Amino acid sequence: MKATVMTYGCQMNEYDTHLVESQLVSLGADLVDSIEEADFVLINTCAVRGKPVDKVRSVLGDLRKQKAQRGLVVGMMGCLAQLEEGQQIARKFEVDVLLGPGSLLDIGKALESNERFWGLQFKDELHDHIPPAPQGKLQAHLTIMRGCDHHCTYCIVPTTRGPQVSRTPDSILRELDGLLAAGVREVTLLGQNVNAYGIDQGARVAGIPSFAELLRLVGQSGIERIKFTTSHPMNFTEDVALAMAETPAVCEFVHLPVQSGSNAVLRRMAREYTRERYLEHIAAIRRHLPDVVLATDIIVGFPGETEADFQQTLDLYDEVGYDSAYMFIYSARPGTPSYRHFADLPREVKTERLQRLIARQKEWSQRRNAAKVGTVQQVLLRGDAFEPGFLEGHSRGNHPVVVPKALGADRAGIYPVHIGHATPHMLYGAVLGADGQPLPELPRLTPEAAALSAPLAML
Ligand code: 5AD
Ligand code: SF4
Repeated sequence: MKATVMTYGCQMNEYDTHLVESQLVSLGADLVDSIEEADFVLINTCAVRGKPVDKVRSVLGDLRKQKAQRGLVVGMMGCLAQLEEGQQIARKFEVDVLLGPGSLLDIGKALESNERFWGLQFKDELHDHIPPAPQGKLQAHLTIMRGCDHHCTYCIVPTTRGPQVSRTPDSILRELDGLLAAGVREVTLLGQNVNAYGIDQGARVAGIPSFAELLRLVGQSGIERIKFTTSHPMNFTEDVALAMAETPAVCEFVHLPVQSGSNAVLRRMAREYTRERYLEHIAAIRRHLPDVVLATDIIVGFPGETEADFQQTLDLYDEVGYDSAYMFIYSARPGTPSYRHFADLPREVKTERLQRLIARQKEWSQRRNAAKVGTVQQVLLRGDAFEPGFLEGHSRGNHPVVVPKALGADRAGIYPVHIGHATPHMLYGAVLGADGQPLPELPRLTPEAAALSAPLAML
């Protein structure tokens, strides 16, 4: 069987795609890159906003045509699959295999079945499952917990991914050992709310570490860089900031979604903190990590958000001075409390506010990135950039970075990079040699010349 998995949504989904792909390989499938080559296409879906759902609809529409023409088998996994909305879509587009986020290990059973297979249970076996390490990669994701126990009124995730379940430290550290053996140098610990790690298992009481303790444990494993995402401000306690500061491998990067700067909106969102409390968290983080790089998520146009509420979000943005932000227009999701109880704002109001927020974010990202010009950043270069002759990667602070290929720095690795230029979304620099001077750049080839020289390069 030739299979391909298409991934939408967050890093949790990327991890789940890797997990299911490795199951497919162990079942004897060949992974292929395109739908045309495949006889099984699996779509890993996101349900957090209306847009990714529309995308899934349109892809499934195309796939249904191919089903009729050449007997393609079509599957849908991930968050949307868990919802009634997703199941209706699956029926409409004649999806053969449906796997919710808790049933991923049923992929084998699903493919054996001669009939439509829908797996929608949350199965414990997933929590101890260790997928094989990705090969030839310097970075990897590691899911440390699944689900979420908060109940933000706009969010569908508690429905799609269920209540929080933390993996055992033993299982996490074994997975990490495998990653290290495969040459991984940066790991991102993943969960809907990693800071609440262990709480569901009775943190400390049953010998399960807190998230701060887990960071220290992972920091002793020999991995060079540790990042984590994402955090709910209520669970971002000061011991986490302290563990970050005292564990050299943990990168100085915090993604702390604020969602809104207005207390009235935060209350309707059921975020469980006030603007003042959030700012105290930021101050504590900065006390322990003065050079921390801060990112956030913001929703604009939540029901009832007034111009004054929105101004408070802009003010909070200035007060924190975020390095970057993911900004979303509120999307009313069926099944959420805010969909049931509140009226949506007009689309024009929401888009106009988003434009103003994006402008604010750009100013700050430019200012923050410009402050990095002249510094040396340790950059994990992943591989070739879009532009021939350049490599791309990211810093410990998660800034995307581009450098020209240089003698001794023409492949993936972690290198010291002198930053020479910044835009709001990118740092540009040069790799430094042992003497602190930029390494000589390799001559740049046009794409045509690069294509011609490729066979030579392989000799
Ligand atoms: N509408 C808009 N954005 C949303 N998010 C979650 N639910 C919604 C929604 N209904 C955003 C939040 C969250 C991120 C993953 O997606 O900002 O942090
Ligand atoms: Fe990830 Fe949330 Fe989207 Fe699910 S709904 S894929 S958890 S962002």
